[in-house]
Amino acid sequence: MEGQSPVPVVLDCDPGHDDMFAILLAAAHPGIDLLAVTTVAGNGPLDKVTHNALRICTAAGLHDIPVAAGADRALDGGQDTAPRIHGDSALDGTELPEPAIPLAGDDAVTVTARLLEAAARPVTIAATGPLTNVATLLRSRPDLAPKIERIVFMGGSTGRGNRTPLAEFNIWADPEAADIVLRSGLPLLMCGLDVTHQALAGPEVFARLRAIGGELAETCAASLEFYGNAYREVYGMPAPPLHDPVAIAAIVAPEVVRCVAAPVAVELAGEHTRGATVVDLHGVTGARPNAQVALELDRALFWDLVLDSVQTLAARPSADRPPAERRSG
Ligand code: BDR
Ligand code: CA
Repeated sequence: MEGQSPVPVVLDCDPGHDDMFAILLAAAHPGIDLLAVTTVAGNGPLDKVTHNALRICTAAGLHDIPVAAGADRALDGGQDTAPRIHGDSALDGTELPEPAIPLAGDDAVTVTARLLEAAARPVTIAATGPLTNVATLLRSRPDLAPKIERIVFMGGSTGRGNRTPLAEFNIWADPEAADIVLRSGLPLLMCGLDVTHQALAGPEVFARLRAIGGELAETCAASLEFYGNAYREVYGMPAPPLHDPVAIAAIVAPEVVRCVAAPVAVELAGEHTRGATVVDLHGVTGARPNAQVALELDRALFWDLVLDSVQTLAARPSADRPPAERRSG
């Protein structure tokens, strides 16, 4: 990344504990020019995840990044949420300030389309929630496809799922949207459970977070406590996987993931397998690869990136303080 200009990115998310870390990494890393944060119903209903996005940006002092709300349900009209993992607020266990940032007047797709139209170079779309907004953009504005550099998404798996035995949550929550993205012909990078289950926040991560000090780092640590307890109870995992920032890390440091090119499809009809990503790792179908699929994570580099982002934002004088206070102080 060094010496190159930052990658323009729109981050579409459903915060969500791990989405929070994805926002912080995308905002703090010099390798990314974060054009907007857009929200989609997923971990919680749209109003809650949007409120959370605004609170996260407020806590981190991200007053100049537009936040826009998108789809409140999947393309088929359904909605699934994840209160067992993220709590009723979709971000339980965290003390975040009330938003000191206005919500954009236009919806996520309109804001993203406008940014793509204006962009001097193609924009990367990072998606860490259900793919509803991204699919809606592709469907409604096919003319903007050349303005999309790549879609990097957290979702799917080459094997087992987490929301159903074979479906990962983001894909399960809107399989038709995932299908549109996977068939789009655009460059895709899938960061699924194969690689995000290697991003386990063990005790050393907590220790490093708390050593940063300050309200933002403490908020991050407290949020991980809640999230870790949920993962222990629901999945019996000793440490929680921080899924979403893997997709952001892969943009700023491609070497953080080892990928293979493979054909990826999503099951739309299966009685037991709806929402499963079917990844042909061995070329047995003869289908052409449509995605890079991340399989291995450089854990040390990943955690350095995530923790450095918290440290960077915590050190900014604007963190935790609303704009009026920053101006007067
Ligand atoms: C994905 O589902 C959500 O609960 C997380 O935020 C992540 O995006 C993991 O399956
Ligand atoms: Ca998410």
